Amino acid sequence: MRGASRLRVPRYAVRPLELRWRLAASVAVVLIVSSAVTFIAVYRGTGSQLRHQIDTELAGDADVLGHTLASSRARSTSALQNVASGYIRAQPFSASSTLLFVILPGTAPVTNRPELFSPQSADDGESDAQQAEENGLAALLLRAGTGYVTVQMPDIGKLRLLRRTVRVPARGSMPARTVTVGVGEPLATVSRAQDVVSRAFLLAGLIALAGALLAALAIGTRLSNPLRRMAAVAAEIDAGDLHHRIHETDRGAREVRVLAEAFNHMLDRLADAFAGQRAFVADASHELRTPLTVIQGQLEVLAAQRHPPPEEIRRVEQLVQAEVSRITRLVDDLLLLARSEQTAFLRIESVPLERFVTELWDSFTLLEDKRSFELGPLPAGTLQADPDRLAQALRNLVGNAIAHTTPGSGRVLLHVERGVPGWVRFVVQDDGPGIPEDQRELVFERFHRTDTGRARASGGAGLGLAIVRAIAEAHHGRVRATAGALGGARIELELPGFMAAPRPLERPEPHATNA
Ligand SMILES: Nc1ncnc2c1ncn2[C@@H]1O[C@H](COP(=O)(O)OP(=O)(O)OP(=O)(O)O)[C@@H](O)[C@H]1O
Ligand SMILES: [Mg+2]
Repeated sequence: MRGASRLRVPRYAVRPLELRWRLAASVAVVLIVSSAVTFIAVYRGTGSQLRHQIDTELAGDADVLGHTLASSRARSTSALQNVASGYIRAQPFSASSTLLFVILPGTAPVTNRPELFSPQSADDGESDAQQAEENGLAALLLRAGTGYVTVQMPDIGKLRLLRRTVRVPARGSMPARTVTVGVGEPLATVSRAQDVVSRAFLLAGLIALAGALLAALAIGTRLSNPLRRMAAVAAEIDAGDLHHRIHETDRGAREVRVLAEAFNHMLDRLADAFAGQRAFVADASHELRTPLTVIQGQLEVLAAQRHPPPEEIRRVEQLVQAEVSRITRLVDDLLLLARSEQTAFLRIESVPLERFVTELWDSFTLLEDKRSFELGPLPAGTLQADPDRLAQALRNLVGNAIAHTTPGSGRVLLHVERGVPGWVRFVVQDDGPGIPEDQRELVFERFHRTDTGRARASGGAGLGLAIVRAIAEAHHGRVRATAGALGGARIELELPGFMAAPRPLERPEPHATNA
């Protein structure tokens, strides 16, 4: 049995990841995604920033070259060509990295890279395909048109090229001419910078990822430790051993402490409930066993006699009858208490209070005429209640009062009063020995009796007041025992749902009139 009630950890087809690994995986995903977004932004930003810088430099170079040509004192085309080649030669650029050219219509281009402009056949080490590509490039460079273009150069790679036209005014024998100037700069610096950015990002990203994973694992382990401890405690709990508790230090996270407290509180309540349940079952079995033992004993006595006299049979029959009805009552009471915990325990209806109490009181007093019964004035109105259960509760209270008063002289009182608005109070009092002050709470417990010996002799199991309390609570009401004015017990049963009847309209007194 103990094993059967042990808490089981559900089995999953795929074992779920531990909290710390989930945390680490989440951190890794977030870090990778955010790094990727940042990397793309920085990578592209670096590229466009450098390209912009190159374009500005090219514009400046083209301006200077154009201005040199336009403002030269050359009076012939060949003199202008000399100015151009002089300018190009004077530039500090290394020939492999920068391209400069000037095209005067009708003449060969002046440039620092003449091989790019003259279509040739394949020379040493070059394939026909490579040479064809170079020739295509030459045609592209010679083509008219202005503005920026990016071209693929065979040795340099990508080249940013700015082409402009410059108007050289007529001077000497030379008519005014439109000259094309071109300035080019390789984009290798851009891709180099982007490579540096990529490498830096990769390195920093890997270091950050490793650090974040370790930190996430450490945090995850720290966070999940209390949960693991709770799971261990939960696994140790079974119906027989509810003594384990989680001891969370004050240094732990607030949520964890709250959870641990709630968990411990739940265990306290479970322990109480189990203890109550065990006591209830033990008491119930004990109460049932007593009449069963009596029946068995009497039947054995009868069986031992070969020819029992008829009066002996009658005596045993009466005894067995009494014990059976005692068992029946006990079982009914137990069933009622069990049902009182279900939601559909009551059948609420509008109970006309005056008629209900009067009829009930008559039924009590008809059977018991050896005591003085007093019923106080009844408030007019209706009560939202289950009449059968309410009758049962009052019957239990009056039954107790009768049981604890002396036949012939005992007094039993029932008062029904209006309490706070919407509430009604039933007060049952007697002049018996009363309930000792320290027992006034306990008498509402199941199977609790103040005087066990006498109660058992009178047949009471100690369930009557527990049933009254269950009925009161099912009606959202309350019940309590106090010291009565008659010296005996005084039990108050208070219920909500009372609606007073409207008072009948008072008729105005007819005025005396003088005839
Ligand atoms: N009017 C009373 N005067 C004195 N003691 C009372 C009175 N009513 C109840 N008690 C005490 O409270 C105990 C619990 O009452 P309760 O009605 O629950 O049980 P019972 O009367 O002993 O048994 P049952 O009602 O199940 O037949 C009683 O055993 C008795 O000791
Ligand atoms: Mg009773």
